[in-house]
Amino acid sequence: MNIKKRKIFVTQPALPDLQEFIPYLEDIWQSKHLTNNAKYHQQLEKEMADYLGVKYISLFANGTLALLTALQVLKITGEVITTPYSFVATTNVLWWNRIKPVFVDIEPTYCNMDPEKIEAAITPQTTAILPVHVYGNPCYVDRIQEIADMYELKVIYDAAHAFGNKLNGNSILNYGDLSTLSFHATKPFTTMEGGAIVCHDEKTKKRIDYLKNFGFADEVTVISPGINSKMNEMQAALGLLQLKHHQENIEKRKGIAEIYKSELKQINGISVLPDFPGLGNYNYSYFPIFVDENKYGKSRDELYFNLKDNGIHGRRYFYPLISDFPPYRGLVSAEKENLQIAKDISEKVICLPIYPRLEIKHIIKIIDIIESNAI
Ligand SMILES: Cc1ncc(COP(=O)(O)O)c(C=O)c1O
Repeated sequence: MNIKKRKIFVTQPALPDLQEFIPYLEDIWQSKHLTNNAKYHQQLEKEMADYLGVKYISLFANGTLALLTALQVLKITGEVITTPYSFVATTNVLWWNRIKPVFVDIEPTYCNMDPEKIEAAITPQTTAILPVHVYGNPCYVDRIQEIADMYELKVIYDAAHAFGNKLNGNSILNYGDLSTLSFHATKPFTTMEGGAIVCHDEKTKKRIDYLKNFGFADEVTVISPGINSKMNEMQAALGLLQLKHHQENIEKRKGIAEIYKSELKQINGISVLPDFPGLGNYNYSYFPIFVDENKYGKSRDELYFNLKDNGIHGRRYFYPLISDFPPYRGLVSAEKENLQIAKDISEKVICLPIYPRLEIKHIIKIIDIIESNAI
């Protein structure tokens, strides 16, 4: 297809060869076990926990249901401190649990929740902190835990972007009380839709598994008003295959990120995230750039729409801020003065296309467009 006409999206799912998937499907068809903690579900929970270096994983139908359930597992109520710089699901799950979100600003280096803003947002109703490892870079986990311990708060990390990422050799998912993952089609590890909760002890794992299956502890006992948020066998089988290919996909993403980094650093007014010290196994799930209009000569939106006119569909993750959406903008913590850094960054960011099959000619085209828009 003509390179001018072909649309390049921010991401494209990396799928295994269909032939590799067919034996799994045949097995599922033959066994008739389609869901309810069947063979592939159990196998993926074990293999993924080993792969990620965590103790327990519970698989879910998607990342939003994992988050929704995580709040129920820890019986979170009242107010929860969170970030406006995320995908809207992070706050929607609070609303669905009738919890009041309290937004705090982000730090300007990695766009994660600024731990130094947390204490001022704590009230007698605060029960937990819900930060996000944005773009897969770790939050300041030690400082957040220190504050949580001091005020007896729970910590749930929305780790939707952080599959596989390690901090000083330890999985990022081992921090906090619980972490949740998303395996949505846009994520570097995908089961089409899918998600997980990571926890650190067997008792909690059991409770999660009851809650994601209507609250059933056995055939005749419902211990809690649970929900149905289980992953099915087709998703789990795909997950097993995806695990085999994950590392090679990440290497390809890394190669693309390195080209972007070295080429874009020459352009005045375009900046990229610095490497996070101690971060290993980075998954390169996103490649955000930040446009400084004064230096670059064009606004973020001018560049964004120019890329689009040329068939390059980046995404402004995360714009608008969650706190600007109608359900949340009336909250006191959603006021602009409270979230100045988040507001500023959300008006500068564009996430560029990055996925294993992105072709070099398209990477060059993207860089050329960004270069040609500069002063
Ligand atoms: C930070 C964040 N949290 C939650 C979600 C929701 O996950 P899912 O789409 O699997 O429900 C996503 C992405 O989709 C996300 O990026």
